[in-house]
Amino acid sequence: MPHIRTEFRPFNEVIDIANKLEMVEFVAVEKDNKEILFGLNYKNEKFLLVYRAIEFGALLKYEKITRPLKLATLKEALEKLCTELGLEIIDSNIATTRQKPPLFASKYYKKIESFTDIEFPCDNVSIEVGFGSGRHILYQANTNPDTLYIGIEIHTPSAQQLLKQIEIQNLTNIWVVNYDARLFFEMLPSNLATQIFVHFPVPWDKKPLRRVISGSFTNEALRILDKNGTLELRTDSDLYYKYALDVFSLLPRLSMGVNKNHALPVMSKYEARWVRQEKDIYDVVIKCEDKSAKKEEEYNFLFSDFGYNISLKDIISKESNIYEDYFVHFESIYMMDTIGIVIKCAFGSFERPEHKYIILGANNVEYYPSLPIASKSNYNAHLKIKEFLNVNNH
Ligand SMILES: C[S@@+](CC[C@H](N)C(=O)[O-])C[C@H]1O[C@@H](n2cnc3c(N)ncnc32)[C@H](O)[C@@H]1O
Repeated sequence: MPHIRTEFRPFNEVIDIANKLEMVEFVAVEKDNKEILFGLNYKNEKFLLVYRAIEFGALLKYEKITRPLKLATLKEALEKLCTELGLEIIDSNIATTRQKPPLFASKYYKKIESFTDIEFPCDNVSIEVGFGSGRHILYQANTNPDTLYIGIEIHTPSAQQLLKQIEIQNLTNIWVVNYDARLFFEMLPSNLATQIFVHFPVPWDKKPLRRVISGSFTNEALRILDKNGTLELRTDSDLYYKYALDVFSLLPRLSMGVNKNHALPVMSKYEARWVRQEKDIYDVVIKCEDKSAKKEEEYNFLFSDFGYNISLKDIISKESNIYEDYFVHFESIYMMDTIGIVIKCAFGSFERPEHKYIILGANNVEYYPSLPIASKSNYNAHLKIKEFLNVNNH
């Protein structure tokens, strides 16, 4: 990733210059003087760059939690800041870094954050969880052009591969989300979808807690499904099949049907392998019997009442705080040259932790560069963070 190695220039000189630059919104120094953070506002993107001393010289680099969308913007900002700070370049990988194709520049890629107020373009919505190579979702989208297919996949290369296929096949009815389906479901409105496909989820025989299907996931799926909507689980694992039957049979508001070795019009590479080995393939289809109530929780991640106090820098512990289904870990503390501190922290669910900075300034406290994803585990962690920082919310 882009960085520039420079001659070392003392922190106080660098900070003095940085404070006068238009592109720099704030400067903060790590409490043990390990590095400087520059809060940039450049080409309408807010992100951080880091300056730290290394064995021979200093390093000016990007900060991965706050990375801007475009690599070109990041490189340009690094070069510009380096010049403005008068840092002598020793070497840099900026010119030579291979320009990757715009990672998720496609309009069919949807960031998880956008689902807080996204508009769905049509009434028919189907969802595929863990689409892998994408054969099934592509087939469905081609066959049903009036349905929007939301594909949710945790594996980034698979998400990119599907985005490429959407372009090649000229499709306009697929959205791709690169996230953990278990958390993504919490973001969706009630009664949205007519179908949810979960084909060949990873069986996780040794770590069942990692399975996509669970009681809470299925309850969320039933909330998202419209009345008579279906969730179709397809698996080659008889253990998973039996596990799913157990999970589903404990839940109200659904009816269930089971199939064995039922061929679908499209076969994924994964399924083809099992069919060649003559393994049995099981389908469990559950049908949602009722409409669900509107999703109620509107998680509020604002810190309304300000409680900043300088002694926080000595009080905050870097120990991890682990709770039943979330955690809070303050990783680093930075002192701002104006009044305030910046805290780097990780929090939320164990499977998909949130990484953010919290800026405690003279007049307000806020997450940087954006609010956390509105999930239950993030919200529980947020309440705990407020307790730790002693910031009361209305
Ligand atoms: C065994 S593959 C099956 C892929 C595809 N459905 C098929 O039939 O060929 C399971 C897929 O689920 C994805 N996956 C696993 N856990 C997930 C989660 N929590 N959220 C979203 N995708 C997940 C994996 O990355 C993988 O692509």
